[in-house]
Amino acid sequence: MNKTVRAFDRSAIFEGNRALEIDHETVALAVDQLLSSMTLTDKLDQLRGSQTAPVAGLYHAGGNTDLAIPAFKMVDGPRGARAGEATAFPVAMARGATFDVLLERRVGIAIGLEVAAKGGNVVLAPTINLLRHPGWGRAQETYSEDPWLLGAMGLAFVCGAQNHVMTSPKHFAVNNQENTRFDMSADIADRALHEVYLPHFKRCVKEGACASVMSAYNKVNGTYCGENAALLNDILRTDWGFKGFVESDWFLGTRSTAPALRAGLDIEMPAAYRFSDENIAQALDAGELDESDITAAARRVLHQKLAWRLDELPEVDPAVVECDEHRSLAREVAEKSLVLLKNDASILPLADRSDLKIAIFGDLADTANLGDKGSSCVTSSQVVTPLAGIIEQVRHAHVQYFAGASELPDLSSYDVCLVFAGLSYRDEGEFIPTAQQETEGGELARGGDREVLTLPESERRLIEAVVATIREGTGTCKTVVVLEGGSAIEIRDWVDSVDALLMAWYPGCEGGRAIASVLFGAMNPSGKLPVSFPRSASQLNSWDVTALSVEHDLLHGYRYLDLHREDPEYAFGFGLSYTTFELSQLRFSSEAAEVEIVVRVTNTGSRAGACVVQLYVSQCDSCIYRVPKELKGFGRVELEAGESADVLLTLLPEELSYYDEDTGQWVLEACTYQFRMGFSSDDLPLEVFQRFAGRVWQAT
Ligand code: BGC
Repeated sequence: MNKTVRAFDRSAIFEGNRALEIDHETVALAVDQLLSSMTLTDKLDQLRGSQTAPVAGLYHAGGNTDLAIPAFKMVDGPRGARAGEATAFPVAMARGATFDVLLERRVGIAIGLEVAAKGGNVVLAPTINLLRHPGWGRAQETYSEDPWLLGAMGLAFVCGAQNHVMTSPKHFAVNNQENTRFDMSADIADRALHEVYLPHFKRCVKEGACASVMSAYNKVNGTYCGENAALLNDILRTDWGFKGFVESDWFLGTRSTAPALRAGLDIEMPAAYRFSDENIAQALDAGELDESDITAAARRVLHQKLAWRLDELPEVDPAVVECDEHRSLAREVAEKSLVLLKNDASILPLADRSDLKIAIFGDLADTANLGDKGSSCVTSSQVVTPLAGIIEQVRHAHVQYFAGASELPDLSSYDVCLVFAGLSYRDEGEFIPTAQQETEGGELARGGDREVLTLPESERRLIEAVVATIREGTGTCKTVVVLEGGSAIEIRDWVDSVDALLMAWYPGCEGGRAIASVLFGAMNPSGKLPVSFPRSASQLNSWDVTALSVEHDLLHGYRYLDLHREDPEYAFGFGLSYTTFELSQLRFSSEAAEVEIVVRVTNTGSRAGACVVQLYVSQCDSCIYRVPKELKGFGRVELEAGESADVLLTLLPEELSYYDEDTGQWVLEACTYQFRMGFSSDDLPLEVFQRFAGRVWQAT
């Protein structure tokens, strides 16, 4: 009997999320009572952070000892607790490549626990901004270009972290350009907003009950997100029923006093400026603000404080920080995140034999390359670099590292060259203005968007030099490139000249061990690209890092490539394995309230491995404009050689509907739907067609 694997096991994902246990009616009564004893100033104090710089990594907001109201203690962020030393997990984009929601839930639990151990009660994560273009400086902080994958992973993180602390999915909304983030407007029609740029936020709010949401710096349709009533009041609260609080993004996230508060922004972070006593008094005097606006915001803030019983949260033993369990989780995640993109003549995995001679090149081999130095930067007390990981792994083979080699040696006697190349915080990351760098002690690097997707010149030259030296020599040495970086890299110039290519992202504090275990076959790679790798940036939508207004629509990433019939270098969802898989027996039923799809996966190779089965949906005879296809589910399954399993995916009909801009409703169009299943967005061997009768849902 084959095992059956449920692709998105809701009860397992939701387990332990404290927010799902809250009795909101009882909390609301207690909040009313507390509010009745508070002065205007008391309420106002709930609505602003307490200091411009973090204290031991914590940003405090709204503590009041007289009234026994605990403060929020907020800690960044998406790849670990940014407070002293902590476990640096692989960046979110790497975790997106695992396509493993239960693993991401465990990462959420671990980060939440470390945040709690540092004294925090809100983690400023996950970052779930859709990667519209891989050049975005903060690409590494988010999970994918695809809203479905992004929503699944973001939700898993929220549910996991909320076993211990509150979460704050960010940055709401349509935040995907870094250098102009304080000024630019994301211009977008309602349909693209609801179908592409918001569904992942909606999942974290409606399914995950995230306690808060951080508003974004940028504007949406000309209005700053921190004073955007359409986003904060109408969509977040009225449509989605959000019961949490909204805090602004940091220094320039609160742009006004009355407009911001009235639009639904509750807390100005990191300290009072627009929400200062003076500015509030002025707004009240001018009649722009009413005391009830302040009470409403304070009510939302207090609601979460009481609901989470912040004052009763148990103290967490600091020994959990960087504990063995968390480090081995970081390693497991890194191993599952590595994407094998090319493996000519199955040169990988390398055999650890005494007659194997390996030459290693590239500064990144010996660098703790954990990601950018912006707000998601995490410092670990110990980082295993790739070189250290390889030296630890190898028992027999002869390994030589050529540090900073300007002249390459004769490589004729070597069997394999491992070249570590890619990006670092110098090339991409959060853009930190000089003022903030100064306030926070100059530890933050400037970061920013990538104007081009190619490697920095020195990295490209290194690869070319290794290839040229091998060609000039007399031996048969092979070249394996291990790439690091936060999203897609353009590799066309040199990829044909190398034998194997492994995408390692920013792999976290245990990354070196993970890379070594995949290179030498202790681990079979199973990561899949959460972002399309184009042949050239010209295949993607336009990208201008200086733009102050950017049109957003239904197309980007694989949707854009599909429509323009462009073949990318490596498609969304692609990744090789050391074994092979086959899909068969696609079974489909839509009798119940949900669509159910079962597919059999068989490991047809000779070693154990994991397969990520992907489901894409298209509409064949739609009367409205549709993108060619969209990911609507995936399941990851581990199989022994020769083993088969049935993967079960379920879909609600709502998930197949489009947003009707005229009525503000979700519509399941009466037409024929094509369900395709396979291994990547451009390798979908199985399909089934199904006609649905039409249906309509309210915006909620
Ligand atoms: C970033 C946020 C971060 C905050 C606090 C801001 O500049 O955009 O993501 O949480 O700083 O560090």
